[in-house]
Amino acid sequence: MPRFVRSSSGKAGGTRPSKACSKPASNELTRLLDKQFPKSASPTRALRAEAIRKILAAKPGDLYRGEPIYTARCASCHTLFFKGGQVGPDLTRYQRDDLSTMLSSILDPNAEIREGYENFIATTKDGRILSGFLADEDTNTIVIRGFDGSSTTIPRDKLKALTSAGRSLMPEGLLNGLDDQQLRDLFAYLKISQPISR
Ligand code: HEC
Repeated sequence: MPRFVRSSSGKAGGTRPSKACSKPASNELTRLLDKQFPKSASPTRALRAEAIRKILAAKPGDLYRGEPIYTARCASCHTLFFKGGQVGPDLTRYQRDDLSTMLSSILDPNAEIREGYENFIATTKDGRILSGFLADEDTNTIVIRGFDGSSTTIPRDKLKALTSAGRSLMPEGLLNGLDDQQLRDLFAYLKISQPISR
């Protein structure tokens, strides 16, 4: 099992890990995270956001065609109208018709991480390394919810380190590979105010 989290970098017990754990992660960890969450390439995000705005303004999208794109790229992590995963926040009541916040949330997930959804790395004394968000905790245990939505409960006395990676579990580059019309369709679907079913 590779060891990339320094044992001193987290607190294994007591209080909720807060800013104290948000110090820069070790180089090895950063490298691992860069691999797991690759940074998006140029053009810069502002330009990309501007380009997408223009694409969306040029023609309407078809929300029915957008649904499968949403299902493939977003639904594993987000619930929308009672369907979908729970890795990220429920999007049903999120301001999905506000294009600016939607674009920045999607293009730059690390810019602002919703409280409770920071990515943590837990290492256990028996050498396991788990990554996910802190779904729950009490004085005796912590619960890490991973990428796939599965939860793991770790007794605090088995925990060696708990480090905040300062990254979102939401990957960058989620819009990559979509053509102009697919972008319009996806954003049309993202704005739905009630579930569509066929
Ligand atoms: C691998 C899981 C994952 C996928 C796939 C994913 N997200 Fe997320 N998303 C998250 C997590 C975790 C957060 C909360 C952390 C953050 O704010 O970055 C989040 C946050 C968001 C937010 C901000 C919500 C809030 O309450 O602040 C929006 C909007 C969003 N995602 C939209 C999308 C859309 C649209 C897609 C598909 C194109 C998508 N996400 C795909 C995990 C994911």
